[in-house]
Amino acid sequence: MIIFTLFTIIQSQIAQLSLYGEGIREQLVQIIDENQLDCQTIQLLITRGFGQHILDLIADEQIILESHLQCAKQSIQNDLLQLQQLKNRFTNHDNHVIIKPIILWAQSKANILIKVKFAHRIDAPAYISVKNHQIQYLNHKLSISAESDQNNILTQFFLEIPLLNDIDKTIDWQVESVGTMVLNITKLESKLWLHLSKNKNDKFQIWWDLKEQIGQDMEDFSKLLENQEDYLKNKKKQQKKIESQQQQQQTPTIKQNLFFSLFLQLKQWVSKWF
Ligand SMILES: *[C@@H]1O[C@H](CO)[C@@H](O)[C@H](O)[C@H]1NC(C)=O
Repeated sequence: MIIFTLFTIIQSQIAQLSLYGEGIREQLVQIIDENQLDCQTIQLLITRGFGQHILDLIADEQIILESHLQCAKQSIQNDLLQLQQLKNRFTNHDNHVIIKPIILWAQSKANILIKVKFAHRIDAPAYISVKNHQIQYLNHKLSISAESDQNNILTQFFLEIPLLNDIDKTIDWQVESVGTMVLNITKLESKLWLHLSKNKNDKFQIWWDLKEQIGQDMEDFSKLLENQEDYLKNKKKQQKKIESQQQQQQTPTIKQNLFFSLFLQLKQWVSKWF
């Protein structure tokens, strides 16, 4: 506590020193005389820009011990090191979290429109100050990447979609409102797609807001999806039917087998004892 108070006094004394004022040297000597000189004081003086004055004092009057200077240098170096590590944490691409942006998609026969929201969830607020947007189509995969340094933390966004069908390499895209962007993709073959991605686990929501703007093609797409759902439901029903039929057929055979093995065992006992 006492040390803290002493240091606070030194701090305020140093704060009152003017870098270019008159009689700096005398004031510095006074501060050094009044306070027990330690690393912290010297470090503080150096960080406030009095480094050259201190070097002069060492050269002329030798009132500052070399060892004090050495330890001040060490602690300043430690500060720099910490700063560097902190900086590395924010810029090291292996270290920070990569978020998949949220997308919605709609289509006409000729185009696919994708709305990208740089957020954790569809209903979460989008990141602000999103920059370095990169849209690429390579090896049949569409990749969307960007980054944000919101709150001084570097957040990376990355999403790669193996597209169901081929598209034109030149993708028209623009940043929309805060933290969102829209892609306008041209299909190579004019037809509706059932899914956006080849990967069955990719479930992207449909951008129904564009239904009116796009018109008939979105109606057809909607029907396509409904039919697909019906088809899947029917398929599941039929599978269940087949399975239950198989079980019914299996049950008697199991019973028969059980009966048969029991009979065999009985026969063995009988032959043993009689
Ligand atoms: C997308 O691009 C096509 C041209 O390729 C254009 O006709 C269409 O209006 C665009 N859609 C939007 C929503 O910008």
